[in-house]
Amino acid sequence: MPGNTNKSRTSNKVMTLFVCFLAALAGLLFGLDIGVIAGALPFIAKDFNVTAHQQEWIVSSMMFGAAVGAVGSGWMSSRLGRKKSLMAGAILFVIGSLWSAGATSPEMLIAARVVLGLAVGVASYTAPLYLSEIAPEKIRGSMISLYQLMITIGILAAYLSDTAFSDAGAWRWMLGIITIPAVLLLIGVFFLPNSPRWLAAKGDFRSAERVLSRLRDTSEQAKRELDEIRESLKIKQSGWQLFQSNSNFRRAVFLGVLLQVMQQFTGMNVIMYYAPKIFEIAGFANTTQQMWGTVIVGLVNVLATFIAIGLVDRWGRKPTLVLGFMVMAIGMGILGTMLHIGIHSPEAQYFAVAMLLMFIVGFAMSAGPLIWVLCSEIQPLKGRDFGITVSTATNWIANMIVGATFLTMLNTLGNAPTFWVYAGLNVFFILLTLALIPETKNVSLEHIERNLMQGKKLRDIGQK
Ligand code: BGC
Repeated sequence: MPGNTNKSRTSNKVMTLFVCFLAALAGLLFGLDIGVIAGALPFIAKDFNVTAHQQEWIVSSMMFGAAVGAVGSGWMSSRLGRKKSLMAGAILFVIGSLWSAGATSPEMLIAARVVLGLAVGVASYTAPLYLSEIAPEKIRGSMISLYQLMITIGILAAYLSDTAFSDAGAWRWMLGIITIPAVLLLIGVFFLPNSPRWLAAKGDFRSAERVLSRLRDTSEQAKRELDEIRESLKIKQSGWQLFQSNSNFRRAVFLGVLLQVMQQFTGMNVIMYYAPKIFEIAGFANTTQQMWGTVIVGLVNVLATFIAIGLVDRWGRKPTLVLGFMVMAIGMGILGTMLHIGIHSPEAQYFAVAMLLMFIVGFAMSAGPLIWVLCSEIQPLKGRDFGITVSTATNWIANMIVGATFLTMLNTLGNAPTFWVYAGLNVFFILLTLALIPETKNVSLEHIERNLMQGKKLRDIGQK
């Protein structure tokens, strides 16, 4: 690409931003699909007259699909490429949204949500991967936190649209409206270039160079990056063999699983999926109050994610996580205690809401984005695809268990003890973080890998 004029430089920047925006749209859909069920569920329950157990399945069927989707997309994104995988995801988003909006029985709704889940699973694996391969080095790190931000914005947007449709109890519209962003994603992905790294891995260096030269400021930059890709491709991905033969790698995979289990068992999604129900338990009988309360939950989740973006590279991962689990334990613990005593005055009601919001802040400033950041940092290059597939699938399986047990826990243990269980788990996670989680701030990924493979303790693999 001879002579990079200012004009072509600007158009390359615009192109890169456009590409990142489109890929991040997948994060938005992830959030929309997580958030939408909270407001729709009470109306679905009434319309279909379903039991608590069936409601849990309506919620969790999506996570089941997502776990399958995440595992499948590891294979699909290396076979078909990231772009085609994202396209397949977008098509599934469209089908799943329309089908769930038109479902005529609880069983059909559950099946439609499995399809939606497949889409979310593909998006949650492929979009961050594509982003990290296409984003210029300087902004690669912040991309994952920004991706989390898109998820939280998606959740908030779903809560808002649920609220708008709630007066009419129009749950089909709540679920169906997501078709619009899904179609936008589908059209957008069509214009995305293939990932240069994937093209190079397939041996098509010429196309890889062409894509890079459209996305980078100068042709030298594009060449340099292609050389780096060529270099890194010498390390063949052989995660499964490595997993069988190398106990140090197994430790990294275990750490990824543990991190995601911890993120989910904080209880965050109990609130994401059942927020209106929790407001009802806290004494807000009126649906409008419950819906607006849920919107505030979504808004606080978005805003507190900025705290994490600011803290992650200054404070580091470990202190931020410990603080987050403490805040979450206190929020859940006090909420449980208030439910135990009984919430009888408006003051008590608002204090309960404050505790709920405190929990949300604790999650969004710590475990929300940080677990994804850590999971992408701890896997050695050779087993990266495998390690991240396993941890992403774990996220969804643990998510499903939480979604599938909350109402049963409320019915069998009672309201207060259910919240105490989650408070206790958060206390336990403080200890686990101190004992096992490494600090990876300001350390290169190569360094982490060397420490891991030399057999250093997990909590020390980030040491210089
Ligand atoms: C989690 C989701 C959760 C979301 C809430 C993500 O990091 O993986 O399960 O619903 O954060 O903001």
